[in-house]
Amino acid sequence: MNRRNVTFITDSRIFPTVFKNSKTFDFAAFSEDVSHRVFLLPQSAASSRTLKAANHSLYVKHLNGSGVYPLTQSFVHHLLDAFNAELPSFSSASSKSITTDLVDFTQRVMFPASTNALFGRTFPTHIRKQVFLFDEGFLYLYASLPSFVTKQYDDAIRESIAALSEMLDQGMQDANALAVGQDEAAKSEGCDLFTRGAIAFSLLWGLQTNATQAVFWCLAHLITYTTSDFQQRLIAEGREGLRLSRDANGNLTATPDIAKLTEAPLLSSLFEETLRHVSGTLMMREVSVDAMIEDVETGRVFKVKKGDFVALPARHLHRNKEVHDGPGEFRPERFVEKKAGRYELMPFGGGVSLCPGRFFASHEIKAFVAVALQLFDFKVVDPLPGLHLAQYGVGVMPPTAAMNVEIHLKDEWVV
Ligand code: HEM
Repeated sequence: MNRRNVTFITDSRIFPTVFKNSKTFDFAAFSEDVSHRVFLLPQSAASSRTLKAANHSLYVKHLNGSGVYPLTQSFVHHLLDAFNAELPSFSSASSKSITTDLVDFTQRVMFPASTNALFGRTFPTHIRKQVFLFDEGFLYLYASLPSFVTKQYDDAIRESIAALSEMLDQGMQDANALAVGQDEAAKSEGCDLFTRGAIAFSLLWGLQTNATQAVFWCLAHLITYTTSDFQQRLIAEGREGLRLSRDANGNLTATPDIAKLTEAPLLSSLFEETLRHVSGTLMMREVSVDAMIEDVETGRVFKVKKGDFVALPARHLHRNKEVHDGPGEFRPERFVEKKAGRYELMPFGGGVSLCPGRFFASHEIKAFVAVALQLFDFKVVDPLPGLHLAQYGVGVMPPTAAMNVEIHLKDEWVV
């Protein structure tokens, strides 16, 4: 068997060397292998330069600056629809409150909201469980474990791809230009329907799993660790960016002020501090030629061989007390007091593999928290669960257990 070593670089002062030498420390080779073996793209599509270039320009156009506004606006529209769908369970309860697992609650709302915003209203939302099941098995699939271990995850991705292929075959409706453009590029490249579905699934996975886990952790930390004074200030700030009301039919409605949501200092700090705690991001690079890396502390030089990997773990940086004072503490206003420097907070990766969806992710999470706090009071039932460290490396780590919370609909929204 061909043995390949992984060198973990735990001193973040060396990260820039790896980012700057992107030919030697190659992300593309690693990403092609994942696209082919885990996301089931044929090798030709996984390594196609034309597809990569098309995707890159779509990300730049539709996920950056004001280019992301249509996606955010559509997300808010679908988010309110998803919250509207939750409200009847509160009206039927005599106490106007429900006890539910916060993981499931955030998935129920986030999944239709973000998938309908990106892929349009014909998106098959029934594949939610399969998408999250696939995410659980990601590392087993990547490690090519035997099929008796991976079968359920492999089935989950194949069922999801089949549903997405059907959606693409019938034509998306009201989809964002990013999803439309990506499928157009795949068609021009001559991809068959399965491959088009697999490409859509890769984007769906990027869209969904990290952001939904991040929303869960934001709310979970918020209700566990923050004072009611902080929550009141957060609600006031949330209202500035997204003021909730009801329309003539009693449905929730709001017009977001996206620039205000983007700036919102408390929401931004809550989001960043949460990611600092829960991110398991591992930036992987394949070594394309034998190379030397110098340890900046000791001056010692160590060798990495062609074909091996280097891995940059964001968590070491996030938990380093020389970078973040009191790293084990959850301080929701940490990044209001001092903004994070370029190499101090890296949940979205870095260098050539920096997440293109980071601005949209931040809009989604802030909009979700802004709406949830205007509508509900949350009461802790279960303690904050631990981080599922066995899922380290895939992005935001999932919780080790369910977290039941009591959610009360505020009097002003009871009809
Ligand atoms: C809190 C939420 C999110 C986190 C923490 C996150 C994190 C990351 C990380 C660490 C990577 C790089 C992976 C690597 O180096 O191997 C990445 C890539 C990616 N992300 Fe995100 N992400 C989030 C949300 C999103 C959203 C909402 C979208 C979609 C709009 C998205 C789309 C993507 C895509 C398409 C890539 C692959 C880029 C490429 O290979 O060129 N992400 N994300």
